[in-house]
Amino acid sequence: MNYRLAYSVGFHPWEDAASDPPFVQKISEMFDREERGREPPYGTALDIGTGSGIWGTELATRGWQVTGIDFVDTALRRGRARAHEAGVDMRFVRGDVTALERADVGGSFRLVLDTGTFHDFNEKQRKAMGRGVTAIASPDATVLLLVWPKRRRPLIRGASRDEVEEAFPGWEITHVEPSHFRLPKPMQLLLRPDEHWYRLRRGTA
Ligand SMILES: C[S@@+](CC[C@H](N)C(=O)[O-])C[C@H]1O[C@@H](n2cnc3c(N)ncnc32)[C@H](O)[C@@H]1O
Repeated sequence: MNYRLAYSVGFHPWEDAASDPPFVQKISEMFDREERGREPPYGTALDIGTGSGIWGTELATRGWQVTGIDFVDTALRRGRARAHEAGVDMRFVRGDVTALERADVGGSFRLVLDTGTFHDFNEKQRKAMGRGVTAIASPDATVLLLVWPKRRRPLIRGASRDEVEEAFPGWEITHVEPSHFRLPKPMQLLLRPDEHWYRLRRGTA
């Protein structure tokens, strides 16, 4: 997917998920699980491929200290405006998520969220992202990855469970759960994503 082109022409169907109740309910449950038994502030979270900051802003509203990273300026501008409007203090960084060690995001993140970036990468990019996440995550971190199954394109490459595991050695997949993501109506005729949330923890569940 050419994200720069997509954002420049206003093509960002993934943002519709924010107004789709089944998807919103599921992602809220994913966040609830990471917050259970604790009081805000919950700690630092990195929103990978934050886009216009929809889910990063949501995490910040819930009480996380959030940094979002993306390489598309148009998206980051919209993200800053969204966070401002929501009255939350979210940090936005322009950078490449396949080179996180070199991006100015900081470290020791307790939660790493990716709603749809990893699953369009090739093997080299997936492994680079996994290495970067491992470098910037705290020892007790959780990674939440939204992944389309492996498919022949159009649009998104997808990733298999094996590919997730290969990209995150030293991490354990604790949950794989349907995300209930739906494409906008006309696109449903072309593609049914059958997308899943992968939850990973370092070493042990
Ligand atoms: C499917 S969109 C999801 C955006 C956002 N997380 C959301 O759910 O609204 C994937 C995002 O990843 C970003 N992205 C893709 N490859 C990237 C890379 N190598 N470095 C930084 N951002 C990247 C794109 O610009 C896009 O905003």
